[in-house]
Amino acid sequence: MESLRDSGVVVTGGGGGIGAAYARRFAAEGARVAVNDLDADKARAVAAEIGGIAVPGDASTVVPAAREALGGRIDTFCANAGVAPHGGPEAAEELWEGAWDVNVMAHVRAARELVPGWLADGGGRFVATVSAAGILTMLGSAPYSVTKHAALAFAEWLSATYRHRGVDVHAVCPQGVRTDMLAGTGPAGDLVLAETAIEPEAVADALFAAMDERRFLVLPHPETAGYYAARAGDPDRWLGGMNKMQRKLEAVLEADGAPAPGGAAPAADADGRTGAAS
Ligand SMILES: NC(=O)c1ccc[n+]([C@@H]2O[C@H](COP(=O)([O-])OP(=O)(O)OC[C@H]3O[C@@H](n4cnc5c(N)ncnc54)[C@H](O)[C@@H]3O)[C@@H](O)[C@H]2O)c1
Repeated sequence: MESLRDSGVVVTGGGGGIGAAYARRFAAEGARVAVNDLDADKARAVAAEIGGIAVPGDASTVVPAAREALGGRIDTFCANAGVAPHGGPEAAEELWEGAWDVNVMAHVRAARELVPGWLADGGGRFVATVSAAGILTMLGSAPYSVTKHAALAFAEWLSATYRHRGVDVHAVCPQGVRTDMLAGTGPAGDLVLAETAIEPEAVADALFAAMDERRFLVLPHPETAGYYAARAGDPDRWLGGMNKMQRKLEAVLEADGAPAPGGAAPAADADGRTGAAS
């Protein structure tokens, strides 16, 4: 991909998982990559591995330091850092705020810094790692589902508003991906996601295919498109299918002696795979 050679790329949450896979892939294409993560050691390790630059810290405030580290210009910004707290409305206020801050406002704050420059000098690329939870739902985590819907809405808004002015936007919406986040979802997550979970590198492959085609929506699990259509076409049938899966999970957790989830939480991105109305 010639256009990436020597371009400046930032990946937030790039110290592991999907972000590290993005960082490796951009570096392999000849880009100069600034690797951001709250975990400074992880950011440094990935940056050292790929010949990139570590820019540790909060994803919300990374743009100025990353721009300087890349010599003045950011061509591609991957808003990838995310958190997946468990629970429903009863989840603590701090968990809701934390999810809102990283999963949504970090994207807004980055775009606020980047878009004026892109409009003035020929454009740029904004990659939002959303989730299938952003187009469906994630059983067990209301904060994740709500904030990922908002992240997708923001990415759509950016694309609708600026695509004719050189800003390419991609929303990446995987179901389960084998990362620390998925491992943190425990046995119920394994139960729901094991069958279809993919490696982070497959998410990077899907993103790069979409970049080649200048395509907005990136579905590393192609079946997500069918669930998305089912949700739009017959919401009650789709919700019935989701609720059936919720009841299955409650039965499994009860059999394991775990507390039944009223909001407690089985799985990152159980949403997509179980999203078909059934
Ligand atoms: N793993 C999945 O099943 C899955 C599925 C769909 C979407 N996603 C999304 O993919 C993205 C990456 O997640 P992952 O699965 O690679 O998880 P991960 O836990 O391996 O990586 C997330 C990284 O983000 C970093 N981070 C968290 N908050 C940060 C902040 N405020 N500033 C900077 N860095 C921060 C963490 O330290 C971590 O290294 C997230 O947005 C997640 O919601 C994951």
